[in-house]
Amino acid sequence: MTLIDTHAHIYVSQFDEDRNDVVRKALDTGISKMILPGINSTYIDIQNKLAKDYPDNCFPAFGLHPSDVKDDYKTELELVKKELQKGKSVAVGEIGIDLYWDKTFIEEQKQAFEQQILWAKEYKLPIIIHVREAFNEVFEIVDKLNDENLSGIFHSFTGNLEQANKIINYKGFKIGINGIVTFKNSGLDKVVNEIPLQQIVLETDSPYLSPMPKRGKRNESSHLIYIAKKIAEIKELPLSEIAEITNKNAIEIFREKIKV
Ligand code: NI
Repeated sequence: MTLIDTHAHIYVSQFDEDRNDVVRKALDTGISKMILPGINSTYIDIQNKLAKDYPDNCFPAFGLHPSDVKDDYKTELELVKKELQKGKSVAVGEIGIDLYWDKTFIEEQKQAFEQQILWAKEYKLPIIIHVREAFNEVFEIVDKLNDENLSGIFHSFTGNLEQANKIINYKGFKIGINGIVTFKNSGLDKVVNEIPLQQIVLETDSPYLSPMPKRGKRNESSHLIYIAKKIAEIKELPLSEIAEITNKNAIEIFREKIKV
């Protein structure tokens, strides 16, 4: 049995001391593929190095994270475009709108999100969407730009059933579920129970949001197994079926780019 971690930031400084061990541990645990969504240009080199060192397992995506949209965002976007042109990116991401930390750059966040969606269409890539306290703003833009050429993942989903159904109705999108589903009182388990398994992809969002029983510790891709087990428990299905279907869902999004 293998699993695909559709969202892991293995390239950040929390892994500087033991990055290769973390990847090997994930592979030993059956996490066969890890998607590495981008944040900003400072990580491009190390994302590319991981892809080079683990060509069958680590797959980078490039994009400007909404929380990193600042005064210099146009320069940052040019660097994203440069990486997309190289043809190694498996998606455009992570992109979106985040109004939780800071609303200063809301207009710039919207502009950057739209621009990066247009590039995704141009380069025929899926998008990885980050949305925090901004579902209305994100839905407004996706409503405007969605068509048969757009696909992707709403990552770290914590919304309600109505929002999940809105995503499902876009047709080309899957819902990324991470360790939050294992947190007591998150309420996400009830929503996940209502979402068809065919719409779900697994993710860790490491180093953040480590699932129970590793909550509070640094998260890593090997912990994906706890998230898969929790979903198996919620859906009352064997773990092997959770793995099979969520892998199929991830492949539907990233296609041959993740070498399956
Ligand atoms: Ni992320």
